[in-house]
Amino acid sequence: MSYRVRFVKPDEHYTRLKPEIDHALFSCLSQGDLINRHHLKDFEENLAAFVGTKYAVGVNSGYHALALSLLAAGIGPGDEVITVAHTFVATVSAIIHCGASPVLIDVRADYNMDPDLLEKAITPRTKAIIPVHLNGRICEMDRIEAIAAKYKLVIIEDACQGLGATFQGRGGGSFGLTGCFSFYPFKMLGCFGDGGAVTTNDPEIAKAIVRMRYNGEDRETGEYHYHGFTALLDNIQAAVLDVKLPCLPAWIEHRRGLAKLYASELKDVEQVRLPNFGGDDYYETFQNYVIRAPQRDELRAFLKEQGVETLVSWPKPMWEHPALKLGHHTLPETESICREVISLPLNSETTREDVKITSGAIRDFFASQTASQKERADAVPA
Ligand SMILES: Cc1ncc(COP(=O)(O)O)c(C=O)c1O
Repeated sequence: MSYRVRFVKPDEHYTRLKPEIDHALFSCLSQGDLINRHHLKDFEENLAAFVGTKYAVGVNSGYHALALSLLAAGIGPGDEVITVAHTFVATVSAIIHCGASPVLIDVRADYNMDPDLLEKAITPRTKAIIPVHLNGRICEMDRIEAIAAKYKLVIIEDACQGLGATFQGRGGGSFGLTGCFSFYPFKMLGCFGDGGAVTTNDPEIAKAIVRMRYNGEDRETGEYHYHGFTALLDNIQAAVLDVKLPCLPAWIEHRRGLAKLYASELKDVEQVRLPNFGGDDYYETFQNYVIRAPQRDELRAFLKEQGVETLVSWPKPMWEHPALKLGHHTLPETESICREVISLPLNSETTREDVKITSGAIRDFFASQTASQKERADAVPA
């Protein structure tokens, strides 16, 4: 089906940066710079400077950024790691694959970890907290940091959706022992496949991840320090990411402008809850523009008919997938979010016209609902 408003436009994204990207690709390919060359190092230095940490280590996915961070922090069997239930499954899979147990807590209406629930979830086995900065908004990190300090817990940030966002002037990925990023193509900063990075201020952690991503080998001495992983960020992906990184501030401002436009276009639609969370401490990037509507499924079907492509992340709580063996939970906000959320088109190629078409279709949907409710009410005999 061809949409009037597409959710993402990877072809247009490439076309806009074609000369710079083609040049980067040509330079890697023509010189055989495929593995661990200067493009990777350059990108890592630039990413660390952007995030506000001493080090960044390129890995092959956000999942591996999380998994290698946990291992480098010494988390393993018998340990508990607290995170949120409303996140991409990879956050939890990373905890399980390092042998630890995930402890899932609820989120607040802004989709981020509820610090009020954190302390109650801590047990003598708790070793780490993974706050997830969802949709381009940082968690309330001052409170999370204070609790972590009180109980001597490690913080590993899932910043896969938090690149460029700040809280109290500090960048996502600069609060924890590590920050974990994903460069999946449709992220704020995306490569042409899978990619990720770990940011940290700790030289030993950076060194451990550099070794683990390369099967445990110290590339300078040839010594194997661990049974590691094949998890290096491809040099060619790093070269592309380094072309895109300087564009990020402008892309973020573009997204923020579109979010403002959605907020004004939809302000009178009382059936939807908009992500107007604000707060002086927060600089949000709108990695995703997520609204809530109790009639989410009908709205989504209507938008599809109108040629507007949307996404639902995620339609049922993670623990309701029995094969994941996460037990049963009662987490009311997560459950309600799963029933109600829908992400609207918003990325660096989305136009103001796209936002107006999408918002107009949403208004039409609710106007027709109101009209048919009134018709039904009028038809009831007095
Ligand atoms: C919140 C969150 N955590 C983890 C990940 C995993 O990243 P990747 O897909 O690069 O492994 C993602 C990516 O979708 C994500 O959005």
